[in-house]
Amino acid sequence: MKVVLKNLTKVFTNKKTKKEVRAVDNLDVEIPDGKLIGLLGPSGCGKSTTLYMISGLEKPTSGRIYFGDNDVTTVAPEKRGIGLVFQNYALYPHMTVMQNIKFPLDNAKWSTKEAAVRAYEVAKLVQIDDLMQRKPAELSGGQQQRVAIARALVKQPNVLLLDEPLSNLDARLRLQTREEIKRIQKETGVTTIFVTHDQEEAMSISDFIIVMKLGVMQQLGKPQDVYDDPVNLFVAKFLGTPPINVFKGVIKNKKVYIGDDAIMDTTYDDRDVYVAIRPEGFTLDNGVLTCNVEQVEIMGRDVSIISKNPNCEKPTIRSIFDADLKLPTSGKYKFGIKPNKVFLFDGKTEERLR
Ligand SMILES: Nc1ncnc2c1ncn2[C@@H]1O[C@H](COP(=O)(O)OP(=O)(O)O)[C@@H](O)[C@H]1O
Ligand SMILES: [Mg+2]
Repeated sequence: MKVVLKNLTKVFTNKKTKKEVRAVDNLDVEIPDGKLIGLLGPSGCGKSTTLYMISGLEKPTSGRIYFGDNDVTTVAPEKRGIGLVFQNYALYPHMTVMQNIKFPLDNAKWSTKEAAVRAYEVAKLVQIDDLMQRKPAELSGGQQQRVAIARALVKQPNVLLLDEPLSNLDARLRLQTREEIKRIQKETGVTTIFVTHDQEEAMSISDFIIVMKLGVMQQLGKPQDVYDDPVNLFVAKFLGTPPINVFKGVIKNKKVYIGDDAIMDTTYDDRDVYVAIRPEGFTLDNGVLTCNVEQVEIMGRDVSIISKNPNCEKPTIRSIFDADLKLPTSGKYKFGIKPNKVFLFDGKTEERLR
């Protein structure tokens, strides 16, 4: 089911200091039916608050929430038809997997038999149907999270809401479980909102991502589109591993300078800019940007070159090349750049110059 947020706002007031926090600020977004949306941003940017308002557990300060054409803003959480999964699995420890999964059905007064049949059906979907008689303590973290997902899906929710569901898993399980969530979402077709602070996780799993900063939506789009076309410096820096390289630069007479190097032409007027270059945005010919090569790391089919430039925000620049290229070794080197991997941002507003 489509989810529409209209000017959704949540203001918390700190009880002691009386200071207000705009946890979510005028969020205006349409989440398409049947897709997996990654809600992405650093800790404290309002992801959970957004999710809890969609679930009904948190009441908006202002704004509306629609499921399809229905305004659910004041509808009680249990009447919204949502499935919720949290970071800590929140299973009932004294119940078996079976009992945990069918708990929502028991609450809804399903017959014992029908509840068991349905519980098996979802257990099969998340591939834990062989563990039905175990207690949560007898399961791995990944298995526990599958139980939580099964429980969230058992009543065929309109919307599945996942709040950092992989954060408590170790790296390998995290990878496996995120693929699993993608598969389950595809198989069920349930509109899913997946909250994470991990850009790689959001990029790999989502049909669309929403990038948030301090309660404000920055950009919505397909992961690759947002990566290739960030609207501002924050978004450019938030996506990508290794992260984008940011240089202080200046536009003078229709040329972009980093230090004394004129790196490209532009149509913009004179101003301070940030020049951001993706690690894969450097070339080894047509050199324009003078750097000091410090280290060349060969990693299978890729090579990572670590270099320095006094105008770079970070102590080192990371650039990535194919291993079969003729590589510089160390010392002064002039890198070329790929125009579509370089972004210019206004030095004051940090908005993208287009
Ligand atoms: N119950 C609350 N009372 C006061 N402030 C809160 C409350 N819940 C969240 N906040 C504040 O709202 C902001 C957003 O929080 P949250 O939605 O939890 O962020 P995220 O999930 O992105 O880490 C933070 O500044 C947080 O401290
Ligand atoms: Mg959170």
